[in-house]
Amino acid sequence: MTSFDFDTLIERRGTDAKKWAAYPADVLPMWVADMDFAAPPSVIEALQARVEHGVFGYGLPQDAFRQQIVDDTQAKYGWAILADDIVFLPGVEPGFNMALKSETKPGDGLLIQTPIYSPILNAHRHWGLESIEAPLVTTGEGYEMDTAALDAAMAKSRAFLLCNPHNPTGKALTHSELTAIAASAIRHDVLVIADEIHCELLLDGRRHIPIASLSPEIAERTITLMSASKTYNIAGLKTAFAIVTNANLRKRFNSARLGLVDSVNVLGLEASRAAYATASAWRDALLTYLQDNRDYLQGEIARRFPAIRMVPAQATYLAWLDCSALGLAEPPQSFFLDRGRVAFSAGSDFGSNYGKFLRVNFGCPRPLLEEGLKRMEAALSSRL
Ligand SMILES: Cc1ncc(COP(=O)(O)O)c(C=O)c1O
Repeated sequence: MTSFDFDTLIERRGTDAKKWAAYPADVLPMWVADMDFAAPPSVIEALQARVEHGVFGYGLPQDAFRQQIVDDTQAKYGWAILADDIVFLPGVEPGFNMALKSETKPGDGLLIQTPIYSPILNAHRHWGLESIEAPLVTTGEGYEMDTAALDAAMAKSRAFLLCNPHNPTGKALTHSELTAIAASAIRHDVLVIADEIHCELLLDGRRHIPIASLSPEIAERTITLMSASKTYNIAGLKTAFAIVTNANLRKRFNSARLGLVDSVNVLGLEASRAAYATASAWRDALLTYLQDNRDYLQGEIARRFPAIRMVPAQATYLAWLDCSALGLAEPPQSFFLDRGRVAFSAGSDFGSNYGKFLRVNFGCPRPLLEEGLKRMEAALSSRL
């Protein structure tokens, strides 16, 4: 079996990396959701060959790539789609905003499951929608949906901006949870906009279930958004796609580009194609590395900071930490930044009730994770 290197530290400062450029040089960044690993070697080779060609005019995704996605979607999820169902986009975030522009009107309710990734939390503001929150509830073991509360919230909503796998909790919705969501959406005539950007990052052998794959009835009312960006660490190449099996919905969705949402990036197309065609062994090795990082983080937090509660992620490379029992006077994000020089994402970015939470990105070489923990420890002992 080929082995892949996830341990080497790669200097990202000086490469316009948002994660590393946003803070002073003495801060270790463990926030924005990209990983500190190089992309798969086969993706880099494909990009090198494309760069060698030297001409970078406008792109147009070809039928062969659409067919590759059709075949992949069947193989990975048992979901039969058609090549024409695919709409290429420069990102998932533009995709869910196009869907909202196309399918809602001001005053409509937009359902979200908090805590939630801030561009989803705040999407209602762009379109004059009323935000309807159905919070995930924690059992101590993990995060669960309150199905009755979700159904009641669905009754007040025109659209549900679903995030599965879920950012920031790392929850992967189960078949029965998705079935309940689908039944409720159908009952209340709600459009589902399914942000499934983390669909290939399920840990511990779990399988991702696209909600639209459950039945033709739910597919009819769903816009699914996917990308190779998170899994293969090519998010800066700005390439994603929607799968919309309902032809009328797809037509309206496409017409919501409004001159604001442009065509795809040619290097992103090349990288995505290569990722899907050639990098499954790399992805499997990555998942093992991420699981080990998650377990290490979990173990060290329990041992060194027992007041912090971490529910293990089922997917993604994100850990959602409840720091309320630390009794900090300031938000934990500023506390660890100021005293430990380590930058996490602030819980308040994910909803108004989460000011005492942190999101940690563990998609990094193990030595960086060790350093992050060391800095947390230094910050906490500076209080004594
Ligand atoms: C759930 C989720 N959706 C969307 C995005 C952004 O996607 P894109 O860069 O394709 O717009 C992210 C990035 O962190 C994310 O976590």
